[in-house]
Amino acid sequence: MSFSADIIADELKVFESVFKDSVKSNVPLLDRIMKYVVKTKGKQLRPMFVLLSAKLTGTVNESTYRAASLVEILHTASLVHDDVVDESMERRGFFSVYALWKAKISVLVGDYLFAKGLLLSLDHNEFTILQILSQAVKQMSEGELLQLEKSRNLNISEEVYFDIIRNKTASLLARACSAGAYSSSHDLQIAEKMRQFGEWVGIAFQIKDDLFDYGNAEIGKPTGNDIKEKKLTLPLIYTLENADPRLKRELIYIIKNQNRIRAKVNYIIDAVTDAGGIRYAEEKMFMYRDKALDILNEFNAGSERTTLEQLVRYTTDRKK
Ligand code: IPE
Ligand code: IPE
Ligand code: MG
Ligand code: MG
Repeated sequence: MSFSADIIADELKVFESVFKDSVKSNVPLLDRIMKYVVKTKGKQLRPMFVLLSAKLTGTVNESTYRAASLVEILHTASLVHDDVVDESMERRGFFSVYALWKAKISVLVGDYLFAKGLLLSLDHNEFTILQILSQAVKQMSEGELLQLEKSRNLNISEEVYFDIIRNKTASLLARACSAGAYSSSHDLQIAEKMRQFGEWVGIAFQIKDDLFDYGNAEIGKPTGNDIKEKKLTLPLIYTLENADPRLKRELIYIIKNQNRIRAKVNYIIDAVTDAGGIRYAEEKMFMYRDKALDILNEFNAGSERTTLEQLVRYTTDRKK
C-alpha cells in the first residue's frame, strides 16, 4: 500500500502559500535565506499529519492551515539549528543553511523562524494551538540537549534513547496531530488522543531515521554521521548491550578514538548488522507503528482514516 496525498492535494497548496507568506522578511539577507528555505522544502510530513488529523476529526479551516504552517516553521527552525549543532553541511539534498551562511547567521535565522511562528498564532489569538506547539519546542530543546550530554559518556541505555527521541522528534509530530485535530474539533480530549497517536508515529519515524544512518542510500543528508558524532542509536545500543566484553571494548574504542575513520565506522556498521541490531530496531519501529495504528482504528473508517494509515506506513517504509 503506497501513500497518495491526493485527498489533501488542494489543502497542501493552501498550506504552502500560507507558509511562504508567514516567513517573508523585509530584511534583504533574511528574505534571501527564507526563499532558499522555501525552495529546498522537505517531505512536509508534519503539515500532512496536521491536515489529515484535522480532516479525521472535523473540517479543515483557516486555523488548520496556520497550525500546519506553524508546525513546519518550527520544524524548519529546529533543523537550521540542528545542522549547526551537528556541523552538518547537507540538508534535503542541498547545502545546509549552516554550510552556506555559517553558524552565526544560522542561529539568528532559526530564532527568526521561531519568532515568526509565535506571531502567526498570536496575530490570530490562537492561544490553545500555540500552547500545544510550544510544548513541542520545549521538548525538542530538552531532547537535543540530553542527546548532546549523553554523547559525551558512551553508556546510553535503551531507556534514555527512547527518552531522547520522544522529546527531540516525537513531540513535534505528536503535537502536529494534536493541533490539527484541535483546529477542526475544538475538543481537547480528541486532541489528546491524536497527540498520543502522533507520539507513537514520531518514535517510529526517528527509529527509521536512525536506521538510515546504517545504510548507504542517497537520502539527501549524510549517512554514517551518528557514529562520527558519537551518537548512539538503537541498533548500536542493542549491540553494545548484547556483545561479549571483548567486542564491546573494541566498539567503544572505535567510537571514542577512531570515529572519523570511514573504514572503522564501516566495521561498526557490520558488527551491528551481524549482532542483529538492525533487525531489533526494525522490530521496535514496527511495534510503535502498530501502537499508532491501534489508536487510529478507534476512529470511524473512511478515506481520511485510510490516508492517515497510509501516511503512518510511509513513515516506516520510506526511502528517504
Ligand atoms: C528530519 O525530519 C529531522 C528529524 C526529526 C529526523 P524530516 O525527515 O521530516 O525532514 P524533511 O523536512 O523531510 O527534510
Ligand atoms: C533532527 O535530529 C533534529 C531534531 C529532531 C530537532 P537529527 O540530528 O537526529 O536528525 P538529522 O539526521 O540531522 O535530520
Ligand atoms: Mg542532531
Ligand atoms: Mg542532525
